[in-house]
Amino acid sequence: MALFGSLPRIAIIGAGIIGLSAAYELAVRRGARVSIFDTRPPGRGASWAAAGMLAPAFEAADEPGQHTRLFELCLHGAAIWPDFAEDLSARSGIDIGFSRAPCLAVALGANEAIRLGRISARLGGARIEHAALTPDEVLRREPAISPGVLSGLELPSDLRVNNRQVVDALIAALRTHPKVKFVSDRAPLRAVGSQLRLEGHDIILAAAGWETAIIKVEEQGQLFSLVNWETALDDIDCYGGQMLSVADGAGAPKRVVRSGHVYLVPREGRIVIGATVEPDRVMDEPEEAAIEALRLEAIRICPGLADAPVLERWAGVRPGTPDQAPFIGETSTPGLFVAAGHFRNGILLAPMTARIVADQILGKDAGDLAGAFSVRRTYAATA
Ligand code: GLY
Repeated sequence: MALFGSLPRIAIIGAGIIGLSAAYELAVRRGARVSIFDTRPPGRGASWAAAGMLAPAFEAADEPGQHTRLFELCLHGAAIWPDFAEDLSARSGIDIGFSRAPCLAVALGANEAIRLGRISARLGGARIEHAALTPDEVLRREPAISPGVLSGLELPSDLRVNNRQVVDALIAALRTHPKVKFVSDRAPLRAVGSQLRLEGHDIILAAAGWETAIIKVEEQGQLFSLVNWETALDDIDCYGGQMLSVADGAGAPKRVVRSGHVYLVPREGRIVIGATVEPDRVMDEPEEAAIEALRLEAIRICPGLADAPVLERWAGVRPGTPDQAPFIGETSTPGLFVAAGHFRNGILLAPMTARIVADQILGKDAGDLAGAFSVRRTYAATA
């Protein structure tokens, strides 16, 4: 990355939590000039659909085929969230619902009990405070759990935010900032020889989630996919996710509960229940059968939810790479950067991604861990 005499002018394509956080870091915290391009309303895609858990253990510590350093990246991501939350709330004047949310993971079957054991070992290795619990200890902490529980794992240090308020706070802080411009048209990318240009900008940051690969570039009057300038972007795939919320009540858990692929998150008078993970699916609307399957799974974990009225159903699309970890950094086309493919950890990794990509764009050393998430990496072998 060439060093600029003054700060570079940056075009960010994609106004989800990753693009918005990068804009916040680059413009608000570091003083660069930024344009954010998105033809859709900012922050209303995957960032809006998420549950807001900032919890590295259950989506990054023990998943087959994952990037070997994703858990480490997620731990760093969680560590910088308190500072980011304080700064963002102060600058935007919006409460983003940042708090501690001790999580209880429970096993109702033998395989899940084994998995919790592996996660516990991984947490121990990373010196993360946690406690392995007997069934009695689980039920004392959370009486809403099924009495058939086999074991549990408590993580007192997990965090949470209201992800919808986070994107609204980012938008509020950015809209009033003199160095930031929101553009609701397609980014007018042009190919000039082997280079990419966007008039008035020195750097392009592709941060459009699962749609990053289909960002368009004009070359001699024709539109081509950005993949022609960085072939690895073709590896970002879509993973649909469906969720629902039910009314809070007597049989509902008071803390975040996870079991297998299901999580239950108490939030503002409701229990958010997620989520399906559906490869190759782009969905705007939830489907009745999938929502009902999730609801029944939640009832298996917390039987008292059986009569809880369903309040809301929704769907979103996660962007995933083959090793479930994001692409962050400069691509093989000079001046084209990427921050996309965050899969299940977009909210958790937004401040960390913003910091890394801002360091790299501004010619600072982002460190060895950041380098491991380069788009030019080779993928970890599937476990
Ligand atoms: N991180 C929540 C999900 O991907 O469902």
